[in-house]
Amino acid sequence: MSREATMSEPQRRPGVVRSVAELRDLVSAWRRGGDRIGLIPTMGALHEGHLSLIRRAQQSCHRSVATIFVNPLQFDRPGDLAAYPRDEALDLERLAEVGADLLFAPTPEEMYPPNFSTGVMVAGLTEGLCGEHRPGHFGGVATVVTKLLLQALPDEAFFGEKDFQQLRVIQRMARDLNIPSEIIGVETVREADGLALSSRNRHLSQSQRAAAPTLYAVMREMARRMTDEGESAGKAEAWGRRHLSEAGFEKIEYLELRDEEKLQPLDAPVQNSRLFAAAWLGAVRLIDNLKVA
Ligand code: PAF
Repeated sequence: MSREATMSEPQRRPGVVRSVAELRDLVSAWRRGGDRIGLIPTMGALHEGHLSLIRRAQQSCHRSVATIFVNPLQFDRPGDLAAYPRDEALDLERLAEVGADLLFAPTPEEMYPPNFSTGVMVAGLTEGLCGEHRPGHFGGVATVVTKLLLQALPDEAFFGEKDFQQLRVIQRMARDLNIPSEIIGVETVREADGLALSSRNRHLSQSQRAAAPTLYAVMREMARRMTDEGESAGKAEAWGRRHLSEAGFEKIEYLELRDEEKLQPLDAPVQNSRLFAAAWLGAVRLIDNLKVA
């Protein structure tokens, strides 16, 4: 549906804006011309997973606007923020490959002016899983995504299902705050061996990279045990934890069956249930999830 695809070279670099005022000018001109706007918020270090969000946006929107902002508010460990990969020139090449129309890459000062003192907090959904292990993380996510949605006012905004809890938090936040954008989840993109794509995978050593696909393999086997053999979630979790430890995962934060809407723990699969996992290989924290029923 992208207008650019028919009007210009596919490899043309997207325009880059750094201020909210420029972003609003461009987006409102497009909207006046009748275009539907799709927003793809990211923190950069773009990979196929991000590009799949842009391709999905191009199916239902005339204009795809990617954002890159490494949001300090959502990092619970300062080392993680400092180590977060940043390469805007490479990201721009990737955006050109898929024909994104615009990159909004604000400075921290543009996003958080002096005396910034407002936060968005989503209760309930943020209490377990990553919310329990990364205090303050979802407050930072909800705050920055609220700002990005209000800055661009897109018709639709796209988020990967790999961060499934984040997706649900953003959907609830947009609904509760009457933000007039549809929040759309897009399926996780995986390597051939099953490892979910993530900007953090580049920090894995060779042996950790070899062990990493075990996370998804273990979740698939847990799902099979529960659905085909009637094993309880607790028993499947104990089996999964043992196998992850044997594969070299040092800390397993959670490996749990939950319902997909309220993210409440379940003892057995019911309709719309999903396994959620977070575990560490050395200094790299991997998360993943798998629909079970
Ligand atoms: O998923 C991410 O990359 C980030 O959490 C997001 C949604 C861009 C907010 O900073």
